[in-house]
Amino acid sequence: MKKIRVGLIGCGRIVEVLHVPALNELKSKVEISALFDKNPAAAEKIKKYYALDAKICSAVPALLKTGIDAVIISTPNFTHYQLCMQSLNAWKHVLIEKPMAVNLRQADDMIALAKKKHLILQVNQTLRFTPEYVKIKELIDSGRIGKPLHIRCLRASSTTPDKGWSSGASWFTSKKSAGGIVMDIAVHMADFLGWCFGETEKIFAVNRTEITGNDVPDNVTAMFDFANGATGVLELSWTFPAGTGLLEVYGSKGIIRMGFSEAGLELKLGDGKYKPVKSGKVKNSHAWFVDSIKVGISGNPSPGEAGRHALAYCAAINQSAKIGRPVRLL
Ligand SMILES: NC(=O)c1ccc[n+]([C@@H]2O[C@H](COP(=O)([O-])OP(=O)(O)OC[C@H]3O[C@@H](n4cnc5c(N)ncnc54)[C@H](O)[C@@H]3O)[C@@H](O)[C@H]2O)c1
Repeated sequence: MKKIRVGLIGCGRIVEVLHVPALNELKSKVEISALFDKNPAAAEKIKKYYALDAKICSAVPALLKTGIDAVIISTPNFTHYQLCMQSLNAWKHVLIEKPMAVNLRQADDMIALAKKKHLILQVNQTLRFTPEYVKIKELIDSGRIGKPLHIRCLRASSTTPDKGWSSGASWFTSKKSAGGIVMDIAVHMADFLGWCFGETEKIFAVNRTEITGNDVPDNVTAMFDFANGATGVLELSWTFPAGTGLLEVYGSKGIIRMGFSEAGLELKLGDGKYKPVKSGKVKNSHAWFVDSIKVGISGNPSPGEAGRHALAYCAAINQSAKIGRPVRLL
């Protein structure tokens, strides 16, 4: 069967550590045939490092004309909307990095255009494809811990992404580029909290922006008032002395936790002891994307609507922090 031909728009850190290795795992079904990065050296580096038989293009329109079926968009957040619309208009399926856009109007346009053209629009909300997180959702949905009561998540690092994750990528900490910890981390974690506990009535958030001296939040604390009566707390920082990642889910019959011991994911039922939980295998984002294009499978865990869900939480967190009051989710 013919392989899916993919073009990469943006060839930075996430392409290096995730997209190319993941596509290489699917070599029988897909090939990376074109690359474009605003910085040609970045595309050259990826091509050379992975010995890709791919054409380096000089611009997006040139890449879209190389006969590719699909693109993966991994550029700074503020560029996503325009690159996605351009790709969909050229009849390409799109896997786009999170946050899918910078506001809900853009997200709605992208979803509507993909629908109109019958193209796949998938957002790389990574946790929806990560075995431990998928297992947590399964445990909650199956009633294993009873009625959901409370969910807490702490994610902290000691540096901003331009210092740690992608050295020199200053857009991560710039408002003009839609950077900041809300668009970078809340987009994952708030989406996860909502994915697990369902509809959220209100969010109240406190953002701190002054600690790193940038014009975007570097610390966030947000409270969630879920429609099912449960509550949640999300605590994010780029300025703690050391990195931390903790997650706790309380139900009427038990507790799920992650990050507290070497066991990773653990479950405690009633007043029993915490026991390790195996998370099992999960179909990854790239396999979903390729199979959605190739054989039209349904049930994609992260379609455009999931990206919009994540963005709605980001918008509510920012709005609440701005006005100093709880806000309803849009
Ligand atoms: N899903 C995840 O867990 C995850 C993790 C990290 C980053 N991301 C997302 O991936 C995207 C890229 O992040 P990164 O860490 O690779 O950033 P990066 O700064 O390392 O790389 C971005 C690349 O895009 C290029 N670029 C900038 N503007 C462009 C344009 N208009 N057209 C083409 N190329 C352009 C830059 O030259 C750079 O090489 C961001 O949206 C980020 O939020 C997602």
